[in-house]
Amino acid sequence: MKTPWLVVGKGAIGLLAASRWQLCQQPVLLWQKQPKSLCYRFSSGSQDYAMMLQNAQSGPFDKVLVPLKAYDVVDAVKSLLPMLSEQAQVVLCHNGMGTLEPVKTLLGPRQGLWFASTTHGAYKPHALHLRHTGFGSTILAPCNQAAQHCSWNLTKELSQALSPLTLVDDITPYLWRKLAMNAVINPLTALHNCRNGELNKAEFQQQIKSLLAEFVLVASACGQSFTEGELYQQLQQVQTSTAQNFSSMQQDVANGRRTELGAITGYLLAQAVLHQLQLPAHQALYTALAAKLEPWQL
Ligand code: PAF
Repeated sequence: MKTPWLVVGKGAIGLLAASRWQLCQQPVLLWQKQPKSLCYRFSSGSQDYAMMLQNAQSGPFDKVLVPLKAYDVVDAVKSLLPMLSEQAQVVLCHNGMGTLEPVKTLLGPRQGLWFASTTHGAYKPHALHLRHTGFGSTILAPCNQAAQHCSWNLTKELSQALSPLTLVDDITPYLWRKLAMNAVINPLTALHNCRNGELNKAEFQQQIKSLLAEFVLVASACGQSFTEGELYQQLQQVQTSTAQNFSSMQQDVANGRRTELGAITGYLLAQAVLHQLQLPAHQALYTALAAKLEPWQL
């Protein structure tokens, strides 16, 4: 009998992973506030499935996927600690940065920490319907020694959920590259309440170029080398391939939820302060979006 994956929360990416695991007979349990099973509809391509996920009763758990928003990750891992086995493998998966270091210090010497950075798109038109909107790919990396020495094939099991999956040694450059995309698309689409594809319009190009130029500057101060041109090209590709999608931040704002602005633009601004840099375009975008939000949404 295969041991189950525990998926924390019922966000779109978590439910996507859980649904795909269940469809290929990989046991999976949900960890959510309400201790009851979840019945929902899963639409992927032209297929529609009726899904049922059991809620986990008690640990210990060996395999845990934490696909939560960046601001919830540290507290969630803290509350999960008593449920983790001594050799549990914990996989984080979110937009933005800043969670790896605090989570590392929480885990025991044999508990592995991983990061999965995915471009799969999923969204919930309502609470009990999950739609797989973008077939993306995933980069996975071990982030501590226990993960590097993990003896079972975590990559193979995770790739059933978020395929195609590439295993790399160091997640840092991938997180920075994703941060570049998120730091442009997410706050701009949230501010203008538009789909990702709208950002290809001429009127946004000057602002986007300034945001990317500043990103290159702060990334370089943090030891990450990118060119504005390559990021601009990649951004256009992402905006085109996800043209019909609403970004996660647009959806958070539209639904009155807390946003990841702090873990995305806020992270860049904090790094800029550390390196004595000015990021006027990111600062202006942060200020403009913050003016539309309640303080607890930041
Ligand atoms: O956060 C999101 O929505 C996605 O990461 C991205 C890449 C901006 C596409 O919508």
